[in-house]
Amino acid sequence: MSTQPPFQSPVGTHDVYGPEAALWEGLIAHFAQAAYRYGFSMVHTPIFEDVGVFNRGIGEHSDVAKKEMYVFEDRGGRVYALRPEGTASIVRAFVEHQPTTPFKAWYVTPAFRYERPQAGRYRQHHQVGVEVLGTDDPAVDVEVISLAWRFYQSLGLTNIRLLINSMGHDACRSVFVGALRDVLSEHKDSLCEEHQKTFSDNPLRVLDCKKDACIAVTDAGPTLPDFLCDDCRGHFAKVTSGLESIGIAYTLTPRLVRGFDYYTRTTFEFVADALGSAQNAIGGGGRYDKLAEQLGGAPTSGIGFGSGIERLLLARRAEGVDAPLINRVPDIFVVDTTGDDVATPLVDHLRSAGYATLRAFDGRSMKSQMKVADRSGARVALLIGPQEQAAGEITLRDLRSGDFEQAQRRVASNDIVAALQELLGK
Ligand code: HAM
Repeated sequence: MSTQPPFQSPVGTHDVYGPEAALWEGLIAHFAQAAYRYGFSMVHTPIFEDVGVFNRGIGEHSDVAKKEMYVFEDRGGRVYALRPEGTASIVRAFVEHQPTTPFKAWYVTPAFRYERPQAGRYRQHHQVGVEVLGTDDPAVDVEVISLAWRFYQSLGLTNIRLLINSMGHDACRSVFVGALRDVLSEHKDSLCEEHQKTFSDNPLRVLDCKKDACIAVTDAGPTLPDFLCDDCRGHFAKVTSGLESIGIAYTLTPRLVRGFDYYTRTTFEFVADALGSAQNAIGGGGRYDKLAEQLGGAPTSGIGFGSGIERLLLARRAEGVDAPLINRVPDIFVVDTTGDDVATPLVDHLRSAGYATLRAFDGRSMKSQMKVADRSGARVALLIGPQEQAAGEITLRDLRSGDFEQAQRRVASNDIVAALQELLGK
C-alpha cells in the first residue's frame, strides 16, 4: 500500500516536469526568439519588492493589491510583497537605474496571487512578458501587440481574438470616471454587494465586475471612447490603423479597463475561444504613461503585456495543437560494456563536438542498455564492448533504420565524429 508523502506542493501551485516541462522550455525559447526579433533584452528583478511598489503601481484599490497579494514582514521588520505581476518591478528598476531609452525589457517570471484555485487559475502562475519605456509613439503599441500575436502564432494557436480599448490619459479619463461615478451612485442599490460598498473608491473596477447586476448598470452608463480627448483619440486611431496595416484583426471593446490602476490609453487583452470564460484570457497589457512618475521617476511613457504560460499551454491543448515546441530528443546513446568506463571520455568528446549524448550508468547488461537507448528516442547508438575496444573501433547503429544489416557498421574510433556528421547531417 502506498502512503501519502508528508508534503505536497502548496494549494494552487504545481510542479512542472517530464513532457510538460519540455513544452515550457519550448514556449520560453519561442518567446525569447520573438523578443530578440523585436529588439528586447532580458531583465531580471527580485521576486519580492517593497509592498509600496505594488500598492502604488497596480493601485491599492485593485483586487490584486487588496485581496490577493502575499505580503510579509522580514526579520528586519521590512514589509515586502511577492510579485503579483511583472510590470511594477520593471518600472521600479527603470526608475532606479535610469537606463537609456527606449528601454525594452523581456522577462519570464512566476507571479503570486491568492486566488481561489481552479483550472487555469493558480496562486503561483508564470508569465512571459515585455515592457517598453521611454516612448509614446503609437507604432510601439502596434509592435508590442504584434509581438504577442506573432508569438501566439508560433505556438500554433489560431483561435485567438484581440480585444482593444483606449482608457484615455489622466484628464479625459477623470471626466469619464466622474460621469461613471454619478451613474453608479444613482443606481447604487442595483450593484453587486461588494461594489455597493466600494464603487466610489475606484468606479473603473465596477466595469471589470463579472456579476450580472453590475454589468446591467454599467452597460446603460457612459462609455470610455465617448470621453477621449482629441490627442487620445488620434493616438488610438494610429494604433488601430497600424494593426490593420499588418493584418492583425481586433475587436473594439469599450468596457475593457483591465484590473490595475496604472493603465492609460491603449489597453488590450488576448482571448482564447477554445477555453472557458474563467480562464480564456491568455494575455493582456497596455500603456502606463504615469507609472514611472508614480514610482518616483521622471515622467516616462510605457507599454507592455504579460501572458500566462499555463493558460497558453491550456489553449494549445484545447485547440488540439500537439506539435512539440522544441526538439529534446538526444542524438546519440552510448552503450558501453567494456567494464572500463570508456563511455566517460567518449560522451565528453561527442558533447564537445555538439551532439546531445546520453549513456547508461550502473554497469548494466548490453540488453538493458539497448532498451534504455531505444526508449530515449536517440537517432544513433554507439556500442563499445571488449572487441571494439581491442580493435580501436566503435559500432555505430542507426536506431531508426529498419534494415539491420545496413543499420550497423564498425567505425574507427578516430573517425567517429566524421561518420556521425555524415549520418546526422550536423
Ligand atoms: P494580467 O492580465 O493580470 O496582467 O496577467 C497577464 C496574464 O497572466 C493573464 O492574461 C493570464 O494569462 C495570466 N494570469 C493572470 N493571473 C493568473 C492566474 N491566477 N493563474 C494563471 N494565469 C494567470 C498583468 O499581469 C500585467 N502585468 C500585464 C502587463 C504588462 N501590462 C502591461 N505590461
